[in-house]
Amino acid sequence: MVSSGLNGVTAGSSGVSTVGKAGVGLTYRGYSITDLAAESTFEEVAYLLIYGKLPSHAQLDAYKNKLAGLRSLPDQLKTLLEHMPQSAHPMDVLRTGTSLLGTLEPEGEDGRTAASVGDRLTASFGSMLAYWYRFHSRNERIETDSDEDTVAGHFLSLMSGMPSDPLKRDVLDKTLILYAEHEFNASTFSARVITSTLADTYSAVTGAIGALRGPLHGGANEAAMELVSSFDSPQDAEKSVMHMLKARRLIMGFGHRVYKNGDPRSPIVKDLARQLSEAAKNTSFYDISDRIEAVMLREKGMFPNLDFYAATAYHLCGIPTAMFTPVFVIARTSGWIAHVIEQRGDNALIRPLSDYTGPDPRGYVAIDDRG
Ligand code: COA
Repeated sequence: MVSSGLNGVTAGSSGVSTVGKAGVGLTYRGYSITDLAAESTFEEVAYLLIYGKLPSHAQLDAYKNKLAGLRSLPDQLKTLLEHMPQSAHPMDVLRTGTSLLGTLEPEGEDGRTAASVGDRLTASFGSMLAYWYRFHSRNERIETDSDEDTVAGHFLSLMSGMPSDPLKRDVLDKTLILYAEHEFNASTFSARVITSTLADTYSAVTGAIGALRGPLHGGANEAAMELVSSFDSPQDAEKSVMHMLKARRLIMGFGHRVYKNGDPRSPIVKDLARQLSEAAKNTSFYDISDRIEAVMLREKGMFPNLDFYAATAYHLCGIPTAMFTPVFVIARTSGWIAHVIEQRGDNALIRPLSDYTGPDPRGYVAIDDRG
């Protein structure tokens, strides 16, 4: 029997995370997402995912220093970023930047491994995005170093050209933790398929970025922002969402392949969005989102996924909407790398079968006889 979209199919085993496991919920290498979001930092989580254990003080300091030392961009990459059009989607910028870096700093040369490629990409994605953004929107060639000692702070300060705001930095850091890993989602599975052919890590990440871009996956946070910002008030939102549901349209940021009774990351990001809204003394998007959540629960019994309130949180962090999914890439790279390493550790080519639905066997028709 064919399962549409591999729904409900177990396609392999993994020790990286549990998603919706009965009595356990979402864990990264056994640690609950609630504890990680409350107690740790993105760098600790990236280290946990890539290197398999939580770092000690000394290991964390060394890891943060290492990432800070991997932020610069080769001149060829800067040139490429300058030549990519302003109208490009920044997901395409990251996808192309990853590909180029793979030719300039290939895996396997100079001791590069999947883990070190992952560290390089995690550290430099913020630089790529900000360099391209500032060049095209402000005509500036920026330095990609910063005094910030976190991935979140580095991205925010490079984008704005100012030191990062502590609350925004903290919120972004926590959302990076929430976005870092999620088992066999579409982009991670793409990375594993590519890895299973014995291709290199850059190829796996490039393919994963392509899969993440779509609105049914990572692109949902951008789509949720477009939805929320299209309403003037909670009343307006309720009326329009009711119309959309009647027309059987998707409400972006709701629903999930695995979670049918709620995404455990959603209450955490909702609280972060609330904190930012109150600090900004502007709860407009938060109130609209809260009303949409109530309508979706009442009408469809559906819950928001992580992307829904992440939209409001990122907007209030001052991040342009088109950068929401690229920020997801910065976070998820650590999860992708964990899966690349795991796939290689016990590799089998991922090559399923299909149910043939085409024509019955028939005779070849010569080109002159095709009509
Ligand atoms: N808004 C309105 N209805 C929705 C919906 C949404 N966001 N998500 C699912 N539904 C409805 C479907 O229309 C379908 O209704 P039907 O049975 O009457 O045809 C039913 O719920 C089941 O949906 P289905 O698409 O089969 O579930 P899935 O597991 O294949 O899809 C998603 C999961 C995530 C792709 C889907 O919920 C979706 O498209 N969500 C919006 C995009 C999004 O937020 N993606 C981020 C995921 S983290």
